[in-house]
Amino acid sequence: MAVILDGKKLRDKLLDELHLRTAKFDKKPKLVVILVGDNPASVIYVNNKRKFAEKAGIDSEIINYPSNVQEDELLNKIKELNEDNSVNGLLVQLPLPKHIDKSKVINTISPMKDVDCFTAMNCGKLFTGEKPYVFPCTPKGILLLLDEYNIDVEGKHVVIVGRSNIVGKPLSVMMLNRNATVTICHSKTENLSQITKTADILVSAVGKKIIEDSMMKVDGIMIDVGIFKDENGKTRGDADFEKVSITASYITPVPGGVGPMTIASLMINTVELFELQNKRSLGVQ
Ligand code: GUN
Repeated sequence: MAVILDGKKLRDKLLDELHLRTAKFDKKPKLVVILVGDNPASVIYVNNKRKFAEKAGIDSEIINYPSNVQEDELLNKIKELNEDNSVNGLLVQLPLPKHIDKSKVINTISPMKDVDCFTAMNCGKLFTGEKPYVFPCTPKGILLLLDEYNIDVEGKHVVIVGRSNIVGKPLSVMMLNRNATVTICHSKTENLSQITKTADILVSAVGKKIIEDSMMKVDGIMIDVGIFKDENGKTRGDADFEKVSITASYITPVPGGVGPMTIASLMINTVELFELQNKRSLGVQ
């Protein structure tokens, strides 16, 4: 029976630690979240960001635009926030409506306030082995969770299902940096289960029922990034939790696994950016 990788417990511990750290500052770090429209999942994510920022001693502001907002208005707001010294971390919640150029919006964010690590500048640093200002939240959260349970990835075969800019691609690089052997699979991959069966660590970030126990290596580790409602309205992940938790040695639950770790990483990143910006303004770095 698999050990549960408890993301909720670790999130709470990390946020308590952050609170102690932020309590020593002479002002609170500040995170600004821009939300366009009222996509129900985005609204839940954004409200969670507000709730957990408070627990970490971080000020947060949510700026909500209607879904028909003009791109220019959004870009001007981002430029204004880039210049505002009271703002340390800035993110635009995705997805954006189709009439808005996502890349243009993301790349208008100052790389030093890019708390998601989504700008081309920070992604470029990540991919070339230079240190980005902060690391992307979901991959960082996964690595923090593995560290907490003393799971070393060096030399291990990590199979990632999903090639998104948010999870699959950056996680592959961060795993490579830790000397894992990485395979990325996606919707066009042939013989998926033959590949997943060779995974010491299987990461699935698809958002569909896709991982059966027959696709797991015995005693493999299952990291489930997917989250969606099934036909009965129950929140679940990509893996068949009941069955996979018999085959696997460790497994992340959904909810309560990777999701809380993404939030914890976002808060850590906000504090790291705050510290970096304050050092810079003092001429330390
Ligand atoms: N939408 C889904 N996940 C994320 C995330 O981590 N950051 C942003 N900005 N939008 C998202």
